[in-house]
Amino acid sequence: MDSLRADPLDRLVSGKREFGEFGGVNASVEISTTFTVLEADTLPAIFNGEVGPEKGGCYVYGRAFNPTVRHLGRLLAALEGCEAAYPCSSGMAAISSTLMALCNSGDHIVASNTIYGGSHALLKTFLPTKAGITTTFVDITDLDAVRTALQQNPGRTKVLYTEVVSNPTLRVADLRGLADLAHGSGAQLVVDNTFTPFVVTPRQFGADVIIHSLTKFVSGASDIIAGAICGSTAFIRSLMDFHAGPCMLLGPTMDPRVASELALRLPNLALRMQEHGRRAAAFATRLEALGAAVTYPGLPSHPQHALMLAQANEGYGLGGLMGLDLGTPARANAFMERLQNRHGFGFMAVSLGYFDTLMSLSAVSTSSELSAKDLASSGIGGGYVRMSIGITGNLEERWKQLEEAYLFTTQLDPSATVPYRAVKVRCGPSGTVEQLLSWPSLGSFGGQGPLEAAAAAAEGAGGAAVVAAAVVSGDGGEEVLEVEAVALSDPAVDGDDSDVSSVPSPSLIPTAVPPLPPPQLVAALKAPASPFVRCQSPLSRVGAGDNGAPAAADGIASPKKDSGDVKTSSSGRPVKIRRTGSGEIHYVALRSPTAEQVTTEQYV
Ligand SMILES: Cc1ncc(COP(=O)(O)O)c(C=O)c1O
Repeated sequence: MDSLRADPLDRLVSGKREFGEFGGVNASVEISTTFTVLEADTLPAIFNGEVGPEKGGCYVYGRAFNPTVRHLGRLLAALEGCEAAYPCSSGMAAISSTLMALCNSGDHIVASNTIYGGSHALLKTFLPTKAGITTTFVDITDLDAVRTALQQNPGRTKVLYTEVVSNPTLRVADLRGLADLAHGSGAQLVVDNTFTPFVVTPRQFGADVIIHSLTKFVSGASDIIAGAICGSTAFIRSLMDFHAGPCMLLGPTMDPRVASELALRLPNLALRMQEHGRRAAAFATRLEALGAAVTYPGLPSHPQHALMLAQANEGYGLGGLMGLDLGTPARANAFMERLQNRHGFGFMAVSLGYFDTLMSLSAVSTSSELSAKDLASSGIGGGYVRMSIGITGNLEERWKQLEEAYLFTTQLDPSATVPYRAVKVRCGPSGTVEQLLSWPSLGSFGGQGPLEAAAAAAEGAGGAAVVAAAVVSGDGGEEVLEVEAVALSDPAVDGDDSDVSSVPSPSLIPTAVPPLPPPQLVAALKAPASPFVRCQSPLSRVGAGDNGAPAAADGIASPKKDSGDVKTSSSGRPVKIRRTGSGEIHYVALRSPTAEQVTTEQYV
């Protein structure tokens, strides 16, 4: 227990130092899957368990033990204050192997009702069906409910399962209370500490087995899928038993190259956790001051704030995860899109622990395995956004982005649906246009006014709207220049991005952009690989319109400079065009390759 009083970083660095084979400062990577012996009778002795890598024998086969994977295991065990650890191929491999090791057919588990969706599905459907292991789900913060559930199946309940900080609701488990209840019922407390490495040491509070998805904060770069099981030496050995160990027989083995990578990331994980926590705390506090429904264990308003403080190791913050309930999926989507597509604040993506912010709508992503009833009982609302706060960029600038997106979102009508189709296109130096992204949108780019007007026009006409941003690539990289909205009245073209107008800035767009000759244009329009083509050179070079600009593609009336009017194209499409820059106007006509009706005359 002494070692548990030490700081986790001290524990991590005070273990046996593993140098490289040639004296390198880092441990070598042992890539071999099989190992030679000097005497023929060593192998039978290894298989009989009489000798092993640290018992006068040697390594034998990579699925059992590999020196590099073992090295990572020792580091993880030190981090978690455990005797031993087994690194494996994923977090789910760690969870399923642990539960298979601790439970037999007919056994029972009591689990938290808010846990990662994959873990929930494993417990709720997979294990009962495949292995006859059943689970009762409870609110893990209600110790009376946990006690009752543990007493339901005397002698059969082998595991009490929880996450330290729950995914995605960020409820905090009372580890000491749960360990006492589990041990009092003859069960083991299995704890998933994926959200809070360094921050919490569950072993200190009596947890028996600690699980990690190393895919998250430990990797820190969203480039590795991996997991780990930490516990007593006897338990880890049982996982590796040649005849009955789930890690030996189900084979969730970690590749040694992955183990080496992860071992190198552990020493700086402490600093990363501090920074994730510092930023999450700042954003949560400021959002709450704006009146946001924010969940963060570091906020005094969090129901388990005091418990979180009591369980946290000093100096590592209180975690990088934050929840924000925006009320409706549409609002939540608009919020995330705006943060990603307008501000570059982070990414709409599942997972967590990445160096940039990741955000996802839990109910339809990482918790989508839960039924509507289970989502409701877990407290996961349809507009709940889980945010894994990144450590990149200037904190104050990031806050401005977050604040803007939040305030924008709260102004949206709560019943808003998604009226736009947003298209991001790139104008290349040679005048080519390619589509970068396309997505349904409530206003990812630009101001609300023109986009809302376009959407209203589109809705009035029974169609969809297209929003386009021109992105110019050049020596200075990519820059989103302008935003336009085109409302499409024709339901048949709804969603195929048929028309987009963009208004790039003159300094970044080459002036001499030749129009595509008709045969090539038609070919391009029909080519499946290139549904988006440039078909119009800058308007000022093509002819005169009502503001000196020419008639535009598809017979659309030319826009006035800075016009905010909704116009009607000759094909009956209402069009909203706003010129926000001072440069030449480019039209980009976009047409699905399946649109056979296109005539070249419309475009030249
Ligand atoms: C808390 C938690 N545990 C386990 C897992 C599963 O990890 P992996 O994807 O590495 O299998 C996840 C995945 O999101 C998770 O969030």
